[in-house]
Amino acid sequence: MSPRSRKDEHLDLCADDNVAFRGKTTLFEEVELVHDALPERALADVALGTSLLGKRLAAPVVVAAMTGGVPRAEAINRDLAAVAQAEGLALALGSQRPLLEHGARDGYFLRDVAPTALLLGNVGLATARDTPTSRLAALVRDTGVDALCVHCNAAMEAVQPEGTADLRGGLDTLRRLVGELPVPVVVKETGCGLSRRVGERLVAAGIRAVDVSGAGGTSWVGVEALRAEAPMRAVGETFWDWGIPTAASLVQLTGLPLEQVATGGVADGLVAAKALALGARAVGLARPVLHAWAAGGRDGARSFLARVVAELRLACWLTGTASITELGGCDVVVGERLQRWVVPGAPLPARRQGG
Ligand SMILES: Cc1cc2nc3c(=O)[nH]c(=O)nc-3n(C[C@H](O)[C@H](O)[C@H](O)COP(=O)(O)O)c2cc1C
Repeated sequence: MSPRSRKDEHLDLCADDNVAFRGKTTLFEEVELVHDALPERALADVALGTSLLGKRLAAPVVVAAMTGGVPRAEAINRDLAAVAQAEGLALALGSQRPLLEHGARDGYFLRDVAPTALLLGNVGLATARDTPTSRLAALVRDTGVDALCVHCNAAMEAVQPEGTADLRGGLDTLRRLVGELPVPVVVKETGCGLSRRVGERLVAAGIRAVDVSGAGGTSWVGVEALRAEAPMRAVGETFWDWGIPTAASLVQLTGLPLEQVATGGVADGLVAAKALALGARAVGLARPVLHAWAAGGRDGARSFLARVVAELRLACWLTGTASITELGGCDVVVGERLQRWVVPGAPLPARRQGG
């Protein structure tokens, strides 16, 4: 099956909640931000601005990678790019493999609507491995992206009917790209999270930014299970909930020199605030934004993201933090199930109260 029709199927399957994790959660329910009854500033004075990958954002929110390379991607990405530009947020493109492989341009050329927004490119690890750096550099240049995300999606590839269950040479590929590409390389999962050990290997390879894309939101094994025939469909059912919960992934990466984006089951600004309290620099939202766009187009996506940002602001105010960057040191209570993911010798960044 061609990547074109695969992307259409992905968009269709993600239109509802049938592709959510079934039993596993993000574990953000294990994090409580501690209320401050005496916030000594006005709600409007909370500073939400931050920087990600060297670029300023009005708030730490990324519209996570979803689409490109199919005709309908043009309308979706142009709307999302306009929203990102207007609200000072970031937008990640979906996989650019269709552009590399057959020149499909839909939804990838957005600089006319988002001249200054942080835009992230995207290719899979196997594609990155099998493509000369010069071609990837041209892709980055032509689409004007500020960084290239490389998605590592082993579980998804294994269940995908036409998947590539062979990621040999992945780390060498990342080392090559870090050394040769003119923009930062962001390593990204697609719903199974990144562990401490993987984080350490990435740091050793020169990677300085990741998107943990953890478990608890959209299950990409689930998406592929729904596309697969027997017997792979049953395998996908078995592994539907595979992966490291998003909050656990942040906890695992604590203390490593990695700028972290927390994607995977972040559906509102309170969950986003918890992710920042656990050390994330920004959060990413994929399927919830797609749903908001499907329901209300550009305005729908815009008001949904504005709500997330407003909730983030309120979470800062109610925890007595003056800015989004201070949220990383605020008081949190972390439940037992999340505590189990804490790496010995790498305590959480936030000041913990109890456990
Ligand atoms: C419709 C759709 C398409 C996606 N396509 C890509 C992709 O091309 N590349 C990628 O790295 N991640 C892709 N993702 C994964 C998301 O970026 C994200 O990691 C994952 O869905 C978890 O976030 P969520 O729970 O907010 O959906 C896609 C997600 C959705 C919903």
